[in-house]
Amino acid sequence: METIATATLAQQVDTPNYDRQRLSTKLVHLGFGAFHRAHQGVYTDDLARLGDSDWGYCEVNLMGGEQLIEQLRGQDHLYSVVEKNADGPVTKVIGCVRESLHCDMDGKHAVIEKMAEPQVAIVSLTITEKGYCSDANTGLLDASNLAILHDLEFPNTPNSAIGYLVEALRVRRIRGLPAFTIMSCDNLQENGRVARDAVIGFARLLDAELAGWIQDNVSFPCTMVDRIVPAATAETLADIANLLGVEDPCGIACESFRQWVIEDDFVAGRPEWNLVGAEFVSDVVPFEEMKLRMLNGSHSFLAYLGYLAGYEHIADTMADPAFKKAALSLMLDEQATTLFMPEWTDLAAYAAMLIDRFCNINIKHRTWQIAMDGSLKLPPRLLNSIRFHLQRGSDFKCLALAVAGWMRYVSAVDESGEPIDVKDPMAKALKSICDQHGHTKSVVKALVGVEVIFAEDLAANQIFINTVERAYETLCELGAKKAVEKLLVD
Ligand SMILES: NC(=O)c1ccc[n+]([C@@H]2O[C@H](COP(=O)([O-])OP(=O)(O)OC[C@H]3O[C@@H](n4cnc5c(N)ncnc54)[C@H](O)[C@@H]3O)[C@@H](O)[C@H]2O)c1
Repeated sequence: METIATATLAQQVDTPNYDRQRLSTKLVHLGFGAFHRAHQGVYTDDLARLGDSDWGYCEVNLMGGEQLIEQLRGQDHLYSVVEKNADGPVTKVIGCVRESLHCDMDGKHAVIEKMAEPQVAIVSLTITEKGYCSDANTGLLDASNLAILHDLEFPNTPNSAIGYLVEALRVRRIRGLPAFTIMSCDNLQENGRVARDAVIGFARLLDAELAGWIQDNVSFPCTMVDRIVPAATAETLADIANLLGVEDPCGIACESFRQWVIEDDFVAGRPEWNLVGAEFVSDVVPFEEMKLRMLNGSHSFLAYLGYLAGYEHIADTMADPAFKKAALSLMLDEQATTLFMPEWTDLAAYAAMLIDRFCNINIKHRTWQIAMDGSLKLPPRLLNSIRFHLQRGSDFKCLALAVAGWMRYVSAVDESGEPIDVKDPMAKALKSICDQHGHTKSVVKALVGVEVIFAEDLAANQIFINTVERAYETLCELGAKKAVEKLLVD
């Protein structure tokens, strides 16, 4: 059967223009999932296309994804990425993967030996939040996690990614080899710190000397990653086959935007990802905040108010000119102004890019999906910015309407009286508060009293309560669509 490696591909497909043999597996990646293929894989391939880079990947799956690894091997480790611009798709074949392993197919030892090879300089991770075996409240290693308990007993045949990393580092140390950098690319706040706490926390329980060596020799740069990469469906794969001219079971589709901000702290060298659009910085935290407030904050605004106005997707919401203008005003006037960024950061250009991404009709991002888990999302996305404005005495009418939109949404009844399927760990408690008050402004004070969301300071702030009450009344009187239009004339 023809594969992406053997077939003559459609003319418009962009294939690797470099000698793949020159790449060495200096990068081992744990978590060959959707995101890695469309993000770090694309940056590293773009770099190889520039000419001098010899950085190649060994892809490893530790949990599930056996078939994907098998399929990747069946096509000489080539796979395709379709970037969906608003004006059409761009199809690329990615050539920077040279090898692959799966712990259940190749054995745990093979994975550890690969990570212990002298040329390996970086082990990167997209293993989802669960992969770090951290305690959700403290952020530190959860020593009662079953995989960790197993790995403490059998450290040479680990189950957790953390166990693999520590075992590979132990082997390198006894062989007199230098350590590698551990780079998390998972969507966690301060992901490098989370990885460090888990790895060093585990090593301490195992062997204090090894833990000390890791502390002194391994770096854990934080990264901020951004690109929307939905899981591939049968429809996605059929689209990709059409574009390529052959089936690619490892193919993935994503938006055209991508961003990668990386703390420049690598103990054994790194690719020059900056040559293909990544940014190396000394501190990633301000960029995380920029993303949370400008991207995620405006996403929440669009999700609650867009849903209430009857829009299914973010792109549909953005097709309403009032919502589009209000989203930009929220980003520039009420979120960007709260940030402390390096001088060279162009927040106006960042906002313009976000607006373009949100308008992309090829990306089907549901308002309902983004509206999920508001009780966890509100503080970092909206409330911290409101605190800033309260302190400065500056205006926050868009943020207040977003909070009012969330309050109206968690009543679980939409503007035409239909039920809303609210997904939130606190959904029941929030609905019960709303039921006691109905859609009257008294619900605002009652909801602001939920301490885990608003904390004592906001519950005691009359300016905050008054502003949200006014927004809530407007929202209930006029409906979401008109309330957003009114924002622009006030
Ligand atoms: N998809 C996106 O749009 C997107 C955007 C930004 C960031 N991310 C981040 O990328 C990460 C992966 O997302 P994805 O979309 O690729 O998901 P995915 O389901 O396609 O891939 C998940 C990967 O994680 C591995 N994994 C899962 N649990 C594990 C565990 N306990 N130990 C070791 N490995 C484990 C799986 O083997 C798989 O390779 C997530 O943390 C997500 O936050 C995704």
